[in-house]
Amino acid sequence: MVLRGFALPYVPDLMPAIAGIETTSPFRHMVTPGGFTMSVALTNCGALGWTTDRRGYRYTTVDPDTGKPWPVMPEVFFRLANEAAAEAGFDDFEPDACLLNRYLPGSRLALHQDKNEQAYETPIVSVSLGMRATFLFGGHARTAPTIKVPLHHGDVVVWGGADRLRYHGVMPIKDAPHALLGSQRINFTFRKAA
Ligand code: SIN
Ligand code: FE2
Repeated sequence: MVLRGFALPYVPDLMPAIAGIETTSPFRHMVTPGGFTMSVALTNCGALGWTTDRRGYRYTTVDPDTGKPWPVMPEVFFRLANEAAAEAGFDDFEPDACLLNRYLPGSRLALHQDKNEQAYETPIVSVSLGMRATFLFGGHARTAPTIKVPLHHGDVVVWGGADRLRYHGVMPIKDAPHALLGSQRINFTFRKAA
């Protein structure tokens, strides 16, 4: 479900919260198990953070770059995720992990499934800020056809239930600077990882 503009009322509180997270755990480019450096830069907040390196994908309680716990999930993040999930029919969503992705012009995210979480009963809640993106939403096999969903500043996407493990990705971002965020797109995805 695409909730157009659902995050807009939260933006004034989200921006300083993102700045706080970045101060403790900066965005960085991680390496996939296959040895590729991701074009998207990432960080996390919450009890668990998603990471990747040559050994694989996993959730960690500690930021591997700082050796310290990931920043606490700001209350406004939690509230936004919980309320968006409820709007999409998933009551009582209590995310313990939030992955923040920063896209610059040209950054992309290859088709993948979100499947490093313990529980698939809970949805994924994805918030888009800044430059627009074309989100690809596919099937249960990488080769299945995809639909293209334009995502703008403030849009929230929720997928769960039978759609929880659908392949998804982001096409290369075009440079069309955004009034508030300039030449970047920030996306955060909330998950119940443990
Ligand atoms: C993701 O799948 O982790 C991010 C999706 C997005 O950036 O819209
Ligand atoms: Fe994903």
